[in-house]
Amino acid sequence: METKHLIAKDKFLNESIKKAAILLKKGEIVAIPTETVYGLGADATREEAVDKIYRAKGRPNDNPLIVHIGSKEQLFELVTDIPPYVEDLIDKFSPGPITYVLKSSGKVAKNVTAGLTTVGVRIPDNPVALELLRYSEIPIAAPSANISGKPSPTTAQHVLDDLEGKISAVLDGGPAKVGVESTVIDCTEAQPVVLRLGKITTDEIQQVVGNVEVASTLSDNSEKPKSPGMKYKHYAPEVPLILVKQKSQMEQVINKEKSKGSRIGLLVSASNAKQFQAEKIIVLGENEEEIAERLYNALRSFKQEEIDVVICESFPTSGVGRAVMDRIERAATSIID
Ligand code: TXA
Ligand code: MG
Repeated sequence: METKHLIAKDKFLNESIKKAAILLKKGEIVAIPTETVYGLGADATREEAVDKIYRAKGRPNDNPLIVHIGSKEQLFELVTDIPPYVEDLIDKFSPGPITYVLKSSGKVAKNVTAGLTTVGVRIPDNPVALELLRYSEIPIAAPSANISGKPSPTTAQHVLDDLEGKISAVLDGGPAKVGVESTVIDCTEAQPVVLRLGKITTDEIQQVVGNVEVASTLSDNSEKPKSPGMKYKHYAPEVPLILVKQKSQMEQVINKEKSKGSRIGLLVSASNAKQFQAEKIIVLGENEEEIAERLYNALRSFKQEEIDVVICESFPTSGVGRAVMDRIERAATSIID
């Protein structure tokens, strides 16, 4: 299949959104931009369309998808039993990088929820995605638009690198601004539970609802995860990655890998970039936001440069930094404490 590259900018904006909407209405799958990462979208009410997502990504069929909507009103059609605090969260954070897991009303196709009675819903904060959702009036089921297990795509080119020929189109809205996937929060109980860390932090949620838990499975992978996706290998770069927790150990780890004759890639902050030497050094940024925005592009770039091993330092965990370190820990082949 030919994958159309639809540029959603300037004079092409409306036409590209229209073309994407037509394809989605025909039951095709189309990659769409969001503020977090690109999603691989299908009409969430059609089982055979949603099935194409699982096949194109190679996604295990017990891992449910997030449904994207254009307005708060659409939420009431898709879910029931909404605790009062959810409206406060929506008013504060949506549109934005946060997904609410709620009891499904049964309107989305069965394979969207992978057999669960709940469904994850979010309003993305991206003008192209919002226009597509409002124009098409379709709730769009969309996991990240990568081959399962690989880092999520933050540009249309990443999507094409993984899925060209397997999907009908990519709607190119430029690079994703946030860079890590949305915060997923279970809102089926009296007190919300964070299932996946993201840009919206636990502290920010707590300030709105008073009390919030973080799923124990986020720190302990041995338990059965409440969010099915968390048990799978994620974000793995195709090159082995060593995470070094203490800055004082960086030099030693670099020298050890060099002595094996490896071509080395480094992921570091601006302040450390000049201290070390390696075949490829990627400075992720000056602050947590920049680091989040550039992380997945960096993880994808080492393969192209034939790097044997990536050595990554530990970054500050304030704000979105906590989600960044969560993703790096999941991507790491080894962690040196
Ligand atoms: O930012 C994002 O959330 C991106 C963009 C495209 O919106 N999407 C994304 O989707 O990251 P995905 O499929 O890669 O991750 C969805 C996560 C998985 O860990 C999945 O298990 C969890 O959300 N999830 C979805 N529905 C759920 C449900 N009903 N209950 C618990 N976890 C759910
Ligand atoms: Mg994903």
